[in-house]
Amino acid sequence: MTILSIVTAPDRRLKVKSKPVETVDDGIRRILDDMLETMYQAPGIGLSAVQIGLPKCLITVDVSRDDEVNAPLYLVNPEIVEYSEEVETYNEGCLSLPEQFADLDRPGVITVEFLDYHGQPQQLRAKGLLSRCIQHEMDHLKGRLFVDRLSTVKRGIILRKLDKAKRQKVTA
Ligand code: NI
Repeated sequence: MTILSIVTAPDRRLKVKSKPVETVDDGIRRILDDMLETMYQAPGIGLSAVQIGLPKCLITVDVSRDDEVNAPLYLVNPEIVEYSEEVETYNEGCLSLPEQFADLDRPGVITVEFLDYHGQPQQLRAKGLLSRCIQHEMDHLKGRLFVDRLSTVKRGIILRKLDKAKRQKVTA
């Protein structure tokens, strides 16, 4: 397995809309394996393929706690078929926006359909952190970051901070 580098904002590649995968074959499974390792290493609880520069509808998630056994979840071509009306607020972060967090409202419970690691269709009802994480990753597949859901002012502050941090890294 290979640890891949994660694209950080601002970067055009993060705005690309991902394409559905036609077949879940060994090539796709290899990418999913690499994504999971990359996510664990980061460390993060969710990663979409577009964040490693590959605009395909692939997501890895693991919201198990540190003291629990790993519970990886692979979602290929995910689609949310149901959202709860009730909304929850959560302080969200993103591996593509290092060290940036903001409170964001999203539906609390979702039902998502997807293909699993073996290409089998699955349906999952998710709540809490899992629901949050899947919705966040699915935004990535549409070329959206969580800051795109914030006001222009808040988004501007975060993006300027990131840009500054990046430039300092380059000159250091
Ligand atoms: Ni993210």
